[in-house]
Amino acid sequence: MSSSIDSNERVDPASVPQRTLYTGAKMPAIGLGTFGSDHVPPEEVAKAVLGAAEVGYRHFDCAAVYGNEKEVGESLAKIMASGVKREELWVTSKLWNDKHGEDDVIPACKKSIEDLQVGYLDLYLVHWPFPNYHPPGCPPDYHNPNAKPYIHENFMKTWRQMEKLVEMGLVRHIGTSNVTIPKLELILRDANIKPAANEMELHPHFQQPELFEYVRSHGIVPIGFCPIGSPGRPERDRTPEDTVDIEDPVIVEIAARHGIRPATLCVKWAVQRGQVPIPFSTKRRNYLANLKCTTTPPLSDEEMEAIRKIDRNCRLIKGQVFLWKENQSWEDLWDPNGVIPQ
Ligand SMILES: NC(=O)c1ccc[n+]([C@@H]2O[C@H](COP(=O)([O-])OP(=O)(O)OC[C@H]3O[C@@H](n4cnc5c(N)ncnc54)[C@H](OP(=O)(O)O)[C@@H]3O)[C@@H](O)[C@H]2O)c1
Repeated sequence: MSSSIDSNERVDPASVPQRTLYTGAKMPAIGLGTFGSDHVPPEEVAKAVLGAAEVGYRHFDCAAVYGNEKEVGESLAKIMASGVKREELWVTSKLWNDKHGEDDVIPACKKSIEDLQVGYLDLYLVHWPFPNYHPPGCPPDYHNPNAKPYIHENFMKTWRQMEKLVEMGLVRHIGTSNVTIPKLELILRDANIKPAANEMELHPHFQQPELFEYVRSHGIVPIGFCPIGSPGRPERDRTPEDTVDIEDPVIVEIAARHGIRPATLCVKWAVQRGQVPIPFSTKRRNYLANLKCTTTPPLSDEEMEAIRKIDRNCRLIKGQVFLWKENQSWEDLWDPNGVIPQ
């Protein structure tokens, strides 16, 4: 699909680093995010998917709630029609929070597979561990009166259906997203099919070292969302305390040294650290740079160490719409002190 593109304008997918999952399957160590953050229309995201495949991306991070799987699926169909085999692609999708019910999981997954036109998913994640619906584009103070805390017994009912999807051959791997160590301890204890990947917020100002090491030590691949610090995130996910990774002097200085932009350095650091970043971009120049930087000479140990030190523990996607009772703080969603609040 790339014959008409200058070799400087693309990356050979075979040269992109890969990560091996516990099944032995390999996934590209970088993917394209597809969440339009409530302001990039589906057609534009779909165009980016097509363009990204032309420049060498083979991994796409999708979700039903992004509201664009049909359009993204049209692009994936075109990519496969142009000669890329299905097995060369890595397609992830996610179960949304209002589909945790035992009868809802399999139909929700089938709908994503149909919309994405892929026949099966390489990875299907439970998007959040909370079953609380909130409408797309809702304000930051939206509160669902039926919201519930994490109830492990209920989560495992959802997980059993996720396991069925693997048994049915609809999905190759299943995984978690937005979970903590206390929740993962319970899930790993009770799962018949272990999570193969965990999608979590990861960028230089939010490195989550403990959770990162925990998942890796349990053979789970960490997929890092908001790798650039999500400069285009929706208003509901912005607070005055948030810091800006791409303005950090350490990031700016190391990026300049390597002749790349701060955003691209964040992606390069992420791949070298061992997580799988899934940067979003609709601009060819940007998504190409993000892919290319995974194949250039590595950052030095000193540079990696300098970036390790700028962690600010600054969570951007706080999840406040999931709070289930009055007078709670978003920190309660993340099991402060290792305890799952009820
Ligand atoms: N599991 C979850 O709960 C969860 C939560 C959030 C996100 N995600 C996934 O993670 C993906 C990435 O997160 P995100 O989209 O919030 O944030 P992000 O990837 O950190 O940031 C995306 C922003 O960075 C800009 N950008 C990308 N590459 C650039 C470059 N080389 N130079 C300058 N600017 C650049 C993009 O603008 P341009 O388009 O102008 O390049 C876009 O505004 C999402 O799309 C989604 O797939 C998952």
